[in-house]
Amino acid sequence: MNRDSNKDHKHRHETYAAKSDSRGKPMKRSKERLIVVSNRLPYVFARTPEGGWKTEGGSGGLVSALVPVLRDRGGTWLGWTGSSGDGTGLDQAMAQASEQLGFNLRGVQLDAADVDNFYHGFSNEVIWPLFHDLPSLCVFDPKYWHSYKEVNRRFAEALVEECGKADFVWVHDYHLMNVAAEARSLGCKVRMGFFLHIPFPPPDIFFKLPWRSSLLHALLRFDLIGFQTVRDRRNFIQCLRLSEGQVTVQGKGNVVTVTAGAYTTRVGNFPISIDYGNFARQAASAEVAARADELHRLLPNRKLVLGIDRLDYTKGIPHRLRAFRDALDRYPELRERLSLIQVVVPSRVDIPEYHSLKIEIEQLVGEINGKYMRPGGWVPVWYVYSSLSRSDLLAYYRAAHIALVTPLKDGMNLVAKEYCACSIEEECVLILSEFAGAAAQLQRGALLVNPHDMEGVADAIYRAYTMSDDERRNRMRRLRRGVRECDIFWWVDTYLQAAIERDLSDYPQPQNYVPEPTPDYVPI
Ligand code: UDP
Ligand code: G6P
Repeated sequence: MNRDSNKDHKHRHETYAAKSDSRGKPMKRSKERLIVVSNRLPYVFARTPEGGWKTEGGSGGLVSALVPVLRDRGGTWLGWTGSSGDGTGLDQAMAQASEQLGFNLRGVQLDAADVDNFYHGFSNEVIWPLFHDLPSLCVFDPKYWHSYKEVNRRFAEALVEECGKADFVWVHDYHLMNVAAEARSLGCKVRMGFFLHIPFPPPDIFFKLPWRSSLLHALLRFDLIGFQTVRDRRNFIQCLRLSEGQVTVQGKGNVVTVTAGAYTTRVGNFPISIDYGNFARQAASAEVAARADELHRLLPNRKLVLGIDRLDYTKGIPHRLRAFRDALDRYPELRERLSLIQVVVPSRVDIPEYHSLKIEIEQLVGEINGKYMRPGGWVPVWYVYSSLSRSDLLAYYRAAHIALVTPLKDGMNLVAKEYCACSIEEECVLILSEFAGAAAQLQRGALLVNPHDMEGVADAIYRAYTMSDDERRNRMRRLRRGVRECDIFWWVDTYLQAAIERDLSDYPQPQNYVPEPTPDYVPI
């Protein structure tokens, strides 16, 4: 990829708006209109060869989580259109998408240099690896930082145009940590919250960032900063203390008030979740049941193990494949009795690291199948490199006896929660990395593993395969209850309550919520 090519600044200040209410569709409105701001919109808009626009669903947890929130509450979602360059005709395409979704979309257009330097560069070659504890993969290029500031400024300008005094602005994820600071410098006084979907690293990692103080100061300009887990929140506060010296923390519970220098803000942990009811309902449908049955017919007399991940080095896919091979090597009774379906969803394909990861995964799949496959017989690993339709996704979840969710580090991991919601027979086993944010809530029902411990993961696969029906059911019931009670609507309510009722120092926990043990949870 040539990062310096295509310096087309022509469209840099254009934004594209579409309002579903302007087309006569009733919007659910409260006094406070919700304005969600994220780099990704729910759709990626791409030019067709005929010069029109086509839309594709964006992949990843942020989009999956926020679509039901805006559908339920109404509001506006402001984000990058997913394309660069000439945006002629985008308004109309966005209006159509908005109509389908039932809430407003407002697009920010980036040019090719922004995509290289802000999106691929600072967001995905600096913050993404750093915040996932992989500083060796970071490319600390000052050009990336300058672009990050500039694009964040542009998002802030679009936001200031869009929002009214009574609105609540909710900025999401690591691409846009500077937006509040930029908006404040434009005189914007609306209430603004931030939610980080990925982990926040400990000081020894975060301090490698050359622009660490600027970023911390920028975050302090939000009124509420939300993290996924207690650990992320603690890391952030420790970084602040070490960077700023004088930091006071008041309050207890899930939301505390933090003062550092001239700024006071509130900081909380809010584990994101899924639309449990929708997943469970759709997974129970006749169509999904038929597709799941078909998978069992095509792959008979064996248990199915499932991995579904974006192509990303944080997901630990090669580690998982090696563990699966080790399970077949050391437990011969698993051969011909177990198949792994590994779905890899294409992601960030222009970043070289992602490309080499794809090659590594495909080599490993080839090696495992080459070792164990016999013509006309059992295939140990079924590898799918594609995004899935909703019904295929649900059918895989429903058909799989065991899910292997083993990221090296993950903010939450919604695949783990979706798998539980769709396991309606309650006879399935979730094997979960202790380094996924979800482990804090799901540790009692899942088999927790260290994804770096190849033999440990292989042993967990064997344990899941041989687990008694009673134990499987007890564990899965507990998991499903936890995800049902703390679903995406619980998450949004608790966040917004904390954001809007400023004196709230704690929020109600559902009965089955497993509070996160501190300082660290104990793996099984
Ligand atoms: N997903 C997707 N496209 C697919 C398969 C899955 O968008 O083809 C969704 C999946 O349902 C889940 C999300 O991608 O909601 C992945 O979220 P997760 O938190 O597990 O990881 P992330 O990709 O956000 O790092
Ligand atoms: C993760 C990030 C999201 C991002 C998603 C997909 O879930 O937290 O912010 O949207 O990955 O990545 P992409 O680069 O395609 O937006």
